Amino acid sequence: MSYKINEKVTWVGKIDWELRKFHGNEYSTHRGSSYNSYLIRDEKTVLIDTVWKPFAKEFVDNLKKEIDLKEIDYIVMNHGEIDHSGALEELMREIPDTPIYCTKNGVKSIKGHYHQDWNFVEVKTGDVLDIGESKLVFIEARMLHWPDSMFVYMTGDNILFSNDAFGQHYASELLFNDRVDNAELHQEAIKYYANILTPFSIFVKKKIEEVLSLNYPIDMICTSHGVIWRDNPSQIVSKYLEWADNYQENQITLLYDTMWDGTRRMAEAIAEGIKTVDKDVTVKLFNVSASDKNDVIVEVFKSKAILVGSPTINKGISFSTAGILEMIKGLGFKNKAAAAFGCYGWSGENTKIITEEIGKAGFKVVDEGIKELWNPDEEALERCREYGKRFVEKLQTSAVS
Ligand code: FEO
Repeated sequence: MSYKINEKVTWVGKIDWELRKFHGNEYSTHRGSSYNSYLIRDEKTVLIDTVWKPFAKEFVDNLKKEIDLKEIDYIVMNHGEIDHSGALEELMREIPDTPIYCTKNGVKSIKGHYHQDWNFVEVKTGDVLDIGESKLVFIEARMLHWPDSMFVYMTGDNILFSNDAFGQHYASELLFNDRVDNAELHQEAIKYYANILTPFSIFVKKKIEEVLSLNYPIDMICTSHGVIWRDNPSQIVSKYLEWADNYQENQITLLYDTMWDGTRRMAEAIAEGIKTVDKDVTVKLFNVSASDKNDVIVEVFKSKAILVGSPTINKGISFSTAGILEMIKGLGFKNKAAAAFGCYGWSGENTKIITEEIGKAGFKVVDEGIKELWNPDEEALERCREYGKRFVEKLQTSAVS
């Protein structure tokens, strides 16, 4: 299967409708994904990126239907991760001497995975490959999201091949942003940013400013996952600038786990208290043991504050709460507040542990949290409502430590 993008560029990737988890089990892909590879035919012929390893043979077989592989003059690898480099071994068996253009770090990551001494050509920002009518300009994009990441800009056709940046795990044969359901597209794009790019926001902002300062016209952004941005491609660039700038909406999210419903009832009472004081704030509750972890991360990304709850179990906190806290810590969210809550029966270490963890994760700790003994009665629930009110009042006056 191939799709013509314009006169010179053909999509030769793989749409993976079945994919439901990515990066092992670290990222859920409810709507599948695609591994976008592009064939450019100018005076020279260039292949940009390949596909994930399980589809290597299928990819090369399809590519042979499109072109005699010996006609490929250059391969450009924008990034060495396996979902894009996974067909290289299969391809290089057929055309072993074809030069592979990538960054210095790209050589390291590709060699690190395949242990092959292919004909690498190291490129850096500003290097140009003349392919005929058009030129390919290389732009290193370190830490978007690997040290080896790179963009390629195609002059004349005004296409930015951005690899993972601006991508989405979103299977669609419609191929372009103006042809798909835009609510789905937004959800997959923000999920991708929140779960993958959040730790690198500082680099995202700098890189976008650098690319914009080049004043290249951009008619299309050809990503390596999901759809191509051809209708107003600057919309996703603007979104990335917003998301990279300590993004938050007027939202407070309660994340909790519960064993006998006590911590759930506390969450609901705290939420009631919050709404009493602030009718406009969006309040969302998620039982993290029963929710998709990456969807929860999107909600944390959108929040100005979170409350994290767990009952005490074995002098600690629940497996699911610990897991989501570990993800939150790794993503390095900035400029958000948090506090802890939960039930306990005797030792009651839960709120202390959660408070420590949210502090380590870089959240502004609002206070020491609230815990209730056994299953909360009406008096305890009223304390939770009052706690919710105080929590939101502290946020409003920025009286957070
Ligand atoms: Fe889509 Fe970082 O690979």
